[in-house]
Amino acid sequence: MHKEKILVIGASGQIGVELTLALRKMYGAAQVVAADLREQNPLLAGTGPYVSLDVMNKEMLHVQVIRQNITQIYLLAAILSATGEKNPSLAWNLNMQGLLNVLDIAREEKLSKVFWPSSIAVFGPSSPRINCPQQTIIEPTTIYGISKYAGEFWCHYYWQRYGVDVRSIRYPGLISYKSEPGGGTTDYAVEIYHEALAKQSYNCFLKEDTYLPMMYMPDAIRATTELMEAAAERIAIRNSYNLSAMSFSPAEIAASIKRQLSAFSISYRPDYRQAIADSWPQSIDDSVARRDWGWKPQYDLDAMTEDMLLNLG
Ligand code: NAD
Ligand code: SER
Repeated sequence: MHKEKILVIGASGQIGVELTLALRKMYGAAQVVAADLREQNPLLAGTGPYVSLDVMNKEMLHVQVIRQNITQIYLLAAILSATGEKNPSLAWNLNMQGLLNVLDIAREEKLSKVFWPSSIAVFGPSSPRINCPQQTIIEPTTIYGISKYAGEFWCHYYWQRYGVDVRSIRYPGLISYKSEPGGGTTDYAVEIYHEALAKQSYNCFLKEDTYLPMMYMPDAIRATTELMEAAAERIAIRNSYNLSAMSFSPAEIAASIKRQLSAFSISYRPDYRQAIADSWPQSIDDSVARRDWGWKPQYDLDAMTEDMLLNLG
């Protein structure tokens, strides 16, 4: 059987580190090449091959794909929502051109699969706020959301027109303890655990009742590998799948932490990220992912809190 060789672009980031480690467990260390613009994350050191690579440099990317006999690409390099609002043209350029470079090379080199994440950020203020469905009104108001929604159409186009087997998930906000988050609006839900342990208090940049869809990283990694392992005929959605695990507010995550660390307290000073959060749904309907490829989350808020505090403590 043809052995898969995987390139993870953006491997030093919040998702990239854990996804690379998980893929190395599944496929073997030598079969998964980590790539990033910045230096290798220390957690990846000694676990498998690493190349320094700019996804915007198509020629360099193409050479690496050929030289390393790559058969699959996971593209994680992107500018997230909060950083994107500070530099919209940079976010648009990286999020679009990076994807187009990967899709073009996948077509030319007949790669077996591509993974590219979208986000709950595709939804905007006119989308349903509760249990936002797979197909609905989608009018994003952040540059990040606009780039993700456009990217979804490019993925569908390359699948339909050229047969590129590209698969995608609209990740909710992701919470993890291994690598730092990279500039998103949902990052407060990571920072809060670090500050709870370091200072027993946290000053939150969102209001206390701001509900957002969230997921613990082990669920996100499992969702990604399950989607990529599923038989192609089960993948009916070729733009991007809604995905859900839990939904909570800053007040609720604070209460969950307080149940374990009774001295913890939270205060609120909302900033420009409040408007971004307010434009997104509070919860997501992921019944299509559950039906098509059997998605089911494992972690709820309290289980995640227990695991985060245990691992960061
Ligand atoms: P991150 O910012 O933590 O990591 C992105 C990585 O890409 C970084 O290591 C960065 O150095 C690298 N990168 C940036 N520009 C590059 C370039 N030109 N060439 C090569 N590498 C480059 O982001 P993340 O949180 O790991 O997100 C990964 C993907 O998942 C992104 O597409 C993001 O939009 C999506 N996503 C993330 C979340 C979340 O909560 N983390 C939620 C929804 C969607
Ligand atoms: N966690 C991401 C962000 O806040 C959602 O895509 O930008």
